[in-house]
Amino acid sequence: MSAAAPKAAIIGVGSIAGSHYAGYEAAGVEVVALCDVNPLALSARGEQWGVGRWHTNINELFAEGGFDMVSIAAPTSVHHPATMAAAAAGVHVLVEKPIALDIGLADEMIEACSAAGVVLMVNHQLRSSGAVRKARELIRAGAIGRITNVRLRQAHDWGGRTSVAPGFSVRTTSGGGTLLDNGCHLADLALHLGGAVESIYARLTNTKFDIEVEDTAHASLSYANGALGLIETAWTATGWEDAFWVYGTEGALESTNRYGPPTLRHLHRSSPGGNWDETDVTEYRFTGHGAHVRHVMAFVTAVKGEGPVICTGEDGREAMRLILAAYASADLGAPVRPTEVT
Ligand SMILES: NC(=O)c1ccc[n+]([C@@H]2O[C@H](COP(=O)([O-])OP(=O)(O)OC[C@H]3O[C@@H](n4cnc5c(N)ncnc54)[C@H](O)[C@@H]3O)[C@@H](O)[C@H]2O)c1
Repeated sequence: MSAAAPKAAIIGVGSIAGSHYAGYEAAGVEVVALCDVNPLALSARGEQWGVGRWHTNINELFAEGGFDMVSIAAPTSVHHPATMAAAAAGVHVLVEKPIALDIGLADEMIEACSAAGVVLMVNHQLRSSGAVRKARELIRAGAIGRITNVRLRQAHDWGGRTSVAPGFSVRTTSGGGTLLDNGCHLADLALHLGGAVESIYARLTNTKFDIEVEDTAHASLSYANGALGLIETAWTATGWEDAFWVYGTEGALESTNRYGPPTLRHLHRSSPGGNWDETDVTEYRFTGHGAHVRHVMAFVTAVKGEGPVICTGEDGREAMRLILAAYASADLGAPVRPTEVT
């Protein structure tokens, strides 16, 4: 990276791009260029953020250069070509989830960034939430003993809307429904918190919206260490839900956004004389930036060589492999090993 202050560009300036911009702002990185195929979106974001350089073409963006890192916040089909162009230009990449809809494409992105010596980080931002970071630290320190069960839930109702946007509801553009869209984050968490998954068995249903992809899904996990897990995703919830529970032989970790600001509760039996339903509880509260902003800040730190890549291209690929195995299992009506997905 140049010795001058690092600069960034953003490809795709739609809804999630706002979190990327906020992250760069918090990290003190200037966003110098925007790229989007929609000129109206470009001018709206350009004016909102005070960024005067706009491109409607990715090749043009990289040909002009002038930045060290790029956020790829365009639709998933754009993740591969944009990452390949960034690697060819020697630019570090923060790519949105899912990394790609296909394992082969993800491999090419990983190889290209590795050969170019640039960072490739995937925006599974839940890893950067205070609750997940603390939970992983406690798990690794043995605070809950051996993990027995992991339960993960992400669900919403499209903000109360009565329809699902075509980009999400039509299989050719989305690649899948809630199991892919929300589930890829949870697949990443399942691996990040619980370790290797041996097999997955998913059940999909469509209960609310008249669309061709699932609006509700469960996926049962069998971990290599014998533990069980459950991924729950839905577009049929009420409001927004982000929650995880990790149970161990010596304690449990619980986090949900449903009852107030995000916290992590560590339940344990440290005090003598506890009864059936009373346990000791250590509660952690987190202030400051949310997960999205923290994740972009972590990317900038990794680009500067001052910290680890919190979610690598390989991590993003393995989350996607688990989701592809889940879809295969739903088709088959039987568990599928992620190792069978290539
Ligand atoms: N990390 C998260 O929690 C999270 C949340 C939402 C979306 N996402 C991911 O972010 C990506 C974008 O989702 P969104 O909800 O912001 O979509 P969006 O439709 O709001 O925005 C996407 C933008 O990309 C632009 N675009 C389309 N093709 C392009 C191209 N070839 N080059 C440049 N720009 C192009 C569109 O014009 C649009 O402005 C998807 O991969 C999605 O899965 C991640």
